[in-house]
Amino acid sequence: MNVLIIGSGGREHAIAYYLSKSPAIQKLYCAPGNGGIAECAALVPIKATDIEAIVQWASANSIDFAVPAMDDPLVMGIVDALEAVGIPCFGPDKKAAAIEGSKVFSKNLMKKYGIPTAAYEVFDNAAQAKAYLRAFYAKSGKGAGIVLKADGLAAGKGVLIAQSEAEALAAVTEIMEDKKFGASGNQLVIEEFLTGPEVSVLTFTDGKTIVPMVSSMDHKRAMDNDQGLNTGGMGTVAPNPYYTDSIAERCMREIFLPTIQAMVKEDRPFKGCLYFGLMLTPDGPKVIEYNCRFGDPETQVVLPLLETDLFEIFRAVREERLAELEIRNKAGCAVCVILASGGYPGKYPTGLPIAIGDTGGALLFHAGTKRAADGTLLTAGGRVLGVTSVCPTLPEAISTAYASAEQVTFEGVHKRTDIGQRALAALI
Ligand code: AMP
Ligand code: GLY
Repeated sequence: MNVLIIGSGGREHAIAYYLSKSPAIQKLYCAPGNGGIAECAALVPIKATDIEAIVQWASANSIDFAVPAMDDPLVMGIVDALEAVGIPCFGPDKKAAAIEGSKVFSKNLMKKYGIPTAAYEVFDNAAQAKAYLRAFYAKSGKGAGIVLKADGLAAGKGVLIAQSEAEALAAVTEIMEDKKFGASGNQLVIEEFLTGPEVSVLTFTDGKTIVPMVSSMDHKRAMDNDQGLNTGGMGTVAPNPYYTDSIAERCMREIFLPTIQAMVKEDRPFKGCLYFGLMLTPDGPKVIEYNCRFGDPETQVVLPLLETDLFEIFRAVREERLAELEIRNKAGCAVCVILASGGYPGKYPTGLPIAIGDTGGALLFHAGTKRAADGTLLTAGGRVLGVTSVCPTLPEAISTAYASAEQVTFEGVHKRTDIGQRALAALI
């Protein structure tokens, strides 16, 4: 079969790497891909959001199956467009992708079906949002935390945790009046600030059956000890030690099954990878966010622990026969350390040469890299590369991931030095 992956990050590299091992795939393509993906798939120079061009290219090149892996094209309806020309996809259609594409939709869904999440209000008017915040701060005191979320996609930057009235009011101005995230800020969700360890659970679902992959923990802030700006993710570990078997069982009962059943009832059956961003609060697990696709960099630790052929799962999801498939995971722990460009998530240089020494048995998943005409590997993005190590125990996985990460260098490279430490503390 000819398979096309759509996307260009570390997540797509991990997906491409594991699909390239599938005996059912003869030719693997990736649009637009990156310097690392080029080692396991043929690159197609089309932007992931240029849906028309992707559909045209896929039709003209006998693509048998497509895997759109990024949020933007999914929310824009790339699955509908590819399926309309007879190309089966792993991924949700436009109606189902709204679970990530609109926070207002997902919050209302959870409220309607009793799925635990932070209490919230929706606003489509800045003056009302500000009046609500003034009343909230008059009641709760000036230093209380509150969370503001732009309705639509905002490149992972649409969530603001305000620690004061002034900050909260300024955020309303930015999102709703200055339209910092464009039309994504037409509506605003203001929600209760929750506390507790966070867990990412990626699942496979065909709309009827839902099978969680190994749980994971992201590290979103740029600096050690969770300081600094929010990023796309600076590292991950799997499994997440906070996510015990009894919590997993509760999440299946209270969150996972009710979510896919709710989507069916809303006539938006979800097929693909449904990502649950959870917070384990003192009142039990609650949904912080849904994503309609694999997480990045969660995928880089979750797929290395998956034993079952990834393409077999993708096909079973598309054909709604997930219940017939046994999905097995490997024992052990995986740690991914992200190497970012100096300055990320702010301004950073690109085009710097990357030197890779002996990284032992580590997996290198490229995110922002490209090959120069002479073959030199160059930096081409904020998050440049992820180094994943899989070992029997977490301490071993941490130390080997860091030893391998030391072997990858470019000018100004930035990485956190404490990926996995929070997970380690939970185990002690
Ligand atoms: P998101 O972009 O939805 O993943 O949100 C980014 C981060 O904001 C999450 O990973 C959480 O750490 C934090 N966050 C989102 N919603 C809440 C909430 N209601 N309470 C506390 N933290 C939150
Ligand atoms: N790592 C978080 C995400 O993919 O949204």
